[in-house]
Amino acid sequence: MSDNQALREFIAKYAKPYDPAADDYECPPFAGDIKSEGRSEYYNFHYYHTKVPPEVIRDLLIHYTKPGDVIFDPFCGSGTILTEALQIGFTNLLGSDKNTVAVESTKKNIDWLKNKKTTLDTSAIKLFTADARDLGQNIEKHSLDAIVTELYLGPSRTGQERRGELQKLLSELSNL
Ligand SMILES: C[S@@+](CC[C@H](N)C(=O)[O-])C[C@H]1O[C@@H](n2cnc3c(N)ncnc32)[C@H](O)[C@@H]1O
Repeated sequence: MSDNQALREFIAKYAKPYDPAADDYECPPFAGDIKSEGRSEYYNFHYYHTKVPPEVIRDLLIHYTKPGDVIFDPFCGSGTILTEALQIGFTNLLGSDKNTVAVESTKKNIDWLKNKKTTLDTSAIKLFTADARDLGQNIEKHSLDAIVTELYLGPSRTGQERRGELQKLLSELSNL
């Protein structure tokens, strides 16, 4: 199955169907500056090896989504995208990762944030452990508005890898 076919099938199954009367997909590419102010209290709270700086995500989320959207991060890691979405008003959030420790880490970060900002509504957040290629019964059909994620880029590399190893890695990643 080609990547595009797998993605088309995923969207047909899980995304909200297009409604020509109400949906407007006009959205120019994001063209603002993306900057991070360094390691904030939130960034430092919980260690995760590939965590994205939260400020980088916030403007992209605001640009590419609409208030009230149901957002899914299938490679949630320590939950930066979900916690950022929560802080700007999204409540219908789903997150998964194939690594159970990552899902636990996301839960901890959401709990930590909720302790600091008690008015945040975390009641509709759903987290689960799953391989992105097989999400099982964890997502309702035709329920998602947006997939916002930071893809897995493979294990750390040294620069000494042989061509064959890199090709194998590339072909594994192209299945995601
Ligand atoms: C770049 S990290 C995401 C980091 C996250 N944005 C954060 O800020 O913590 C990519 C994540 O993809 C997960 N992952 C790798 N292969 C996966 C797969 N087949 N299905 C689901 N998750 C996978 C890894 O466990 C890792 O947590």
